[in-house]
Amino acid sequence: MEPRSNDAANLRARLAFALALVAVAAVAAPADAAGDAARGKLLYGEQCVACHGATGKGDGPAAAALTPPPPDLAGSAYWKTASESAIATAIEKGHGSMPPMDSDPQDVQDLIAYLEQAFRK
Ligand code: HEC
Repeated sequence: MEPRSNDAANLRARLAFALALVAVAAVAAPADAAGDAARGKLLYGEQCVACHGATGKGDGPAAAALTPPPPDLAGSAYWKTASESAIATAIEKGHGSMPPMDSDPQDVQDLIAYLEQAFRK
């Protein structure tokens, strides 16, 4: 075999292996890996902080006027029953006195990634 085509075959094999690894990683990753927590943090600061507060405790400046108040998203009690689908529904459709906030699927994923990274206990 000519060295050149051998190199090319070798490279193709390495590429195929690398692509397979990427595919396996994508399948194995949890669903929230699609979210970008850093971007979610920015969105949280724009859309959520007024009610939920910077620390997620539900003590933002607008929270006092709400009945029931926002839950303590930074508490372990919340995360015992929390689900990504319930969080997504709250963001997309609203929940009680929380209005619908954001229906962009990437925004929702990013917000969930941030909530889980920053507040999950
Ligand atoms: C106008 C105030 C307000 C804003 C803005 C707001 N929320 Fe809420 N949020 C609430 C209140 C009040 C509740 C509790 C509602 C209830 O229990 O009836 C709540 C509930 C939630 C819950 C709990 C849902 C569940 O049942 O698991 C999550 C998660 C949440 N908010 C996330 C967010 C995120 C993320 C944003 C920004 C995109 C946001 N909220 C913006 C007031 C707000």
